Amino acid sequence: MSGQHRTPVTVVGLGSMGSALAEAFLDAGHPTTVWNRTPAKAAPLVAKGAVHAPTTAAAVAASPLVVTCLTTYDQTVAALAPAAAALRGRALVTLNSGSPAGARETAAWAQGHGARFLDGAVKNVPAAVGAEDTLLYYGGDEGVFEEFAPVLRVLGGDTVYLGEDADLAALYEMAVGGTLLPALVGFFQGAAAVQARGLTAASMVRFTVKWFEMINSILPGFADEIDRGAYGEPASSVNMFLEGAEHDGDLAREANLDMEWHRPFHDLLRRAADAGHGEHSISALTEVLKNPGRAA
Ligand SMILES: NC(=O)c1ccc[n+]([C@@H]2O[C@H](COP(=O)([O-])OP(=O)(O)OC[C@H]3O[C@@H](n4cnc5c(N)ncnc54)[C@H](OP(=O)(O)O)[C@@H]3O)[C@@H](O)[C@H]2O)c1
Repeated sequence: MSGQHRTPVTVVGLGSMGSALAEAFLDAGHPTTVWNRTPAKAAPLVAKGAVHAPTTAAAVAASPLVVTCLTTYDQTVAALAPAAAALRGRALVTLNSGSPAGARETAAWAQGHGARFLDGAVKNVPAAVGAEDTLLYYGGDEGVFEEFAPVLRVLGGDTVYLGEDADLAALYEMAVGGTLLPALVGFFQGAAAVQARGLTAASMVRFTVKWFEMINSILPGFADEIDRGAYGEPASSVNMFLEGAEHDGDLAREANLDMEWHRPFHDLLRRAADAGHGEHSISALTEVLKNPGRAA
C-alpha cells in the first residue's frame, strides 16, 4: 500500500524513543509529521520523508493520530498546551513512563479538550521498536485502540489492550518494571565478584540467562499463591532465604564488594519471619509489602 493510503501520524518528542517511533511509522509508509523542542533532532527523520511541524499546534492539526514520547506526563501536557484547541476529535496516545496518577491527570486534561485518550508503554529499547515480538500495552479509550490498532502494531507486534482505565499501562509499567533495578544490580554485583577473581563478566552471562529462565518458570506458581493468599506449601521458604542471607557478608568480605544494597531485602525477610511467615513461601513477602510500617 502506498503512503497515500496509510493513516497520517504525528509524533511529538524526538528523543531516543520518539525518533525510533517516528522512524517505524515512516518505514511502514505512514505520512509522518514530527515536532521536537530541539528542532535539530527532526533532521534525520525529515531526510527520511517526515514533515517537520514548526509548532505543536501545527503538528497536532496534521494527523488524526498523535503519539507523544516526552519524558514525563507533565512535560507532555506543557508541550501540548499551546495545541489544546487542535486536539478536539483527535486520538492522543502518550508513550512516556510515569505514575498511574500522572496518566489519569493527563487523560482528564486531554479529554477536557475533546481528545480521545489512550496511554501506553513501550516495554523495550528504541532499537527494538518495530520488531514482531516487541511488547507495547495500552489503557484508555477502546475505540481509539480498535481504530488505530493496525497503526500501533507498526511499533511492535506484541500490542496489547489492557482495558478502559487510562492509567492501566502506567500501573503495569511500574508493577512489571519493579524487577528491573534489583535484577540489574544483582547482575552487576555478580560481575564485580567474578572480576575480583580475574574472570570476565561475559563468562557469567550464559548462566545468568539460565537463572532468569528459572525465575520466569516459577512466577506463575508464586502469582497463584499470592492470588489465593495461600503460602503454606512452600517450595522455597522465607527462612531458607534468611539462611542464604548469611552468606552475603562472606562474599562481600572475600571479594571486597559493597553489598549494602542487600540490607533492606534482609530486613524485609526478618519482618516476614517476625510476622509468622518464616515457614511460608517466599511469596508471602507480598503480605509484608502490602503493610508498610507494620507487621503483616
Ligand atoms: N530510551 C529507552 O530505552 C526507553 C524505553 C522504554 C520507554 N522509554 C520512555 O520513553 C520516554 C522518552 O524516553 P527517551 O529515551 O526518548 O528520552 P530522551 O532521549 O531523553 O528524550 C526526551 C524527549 O522529551 C523531550 N522533552 C523533555 N522535556 C521537555 C519539555 N519540557 N518540553 C518539550 N519537550 C521535552 C526532549 O526534547 P529535547 O530533545 O528538546 O530535549 C526529547 O524529545 C520516557 O518516558 C522513557 O521512560 C524509553
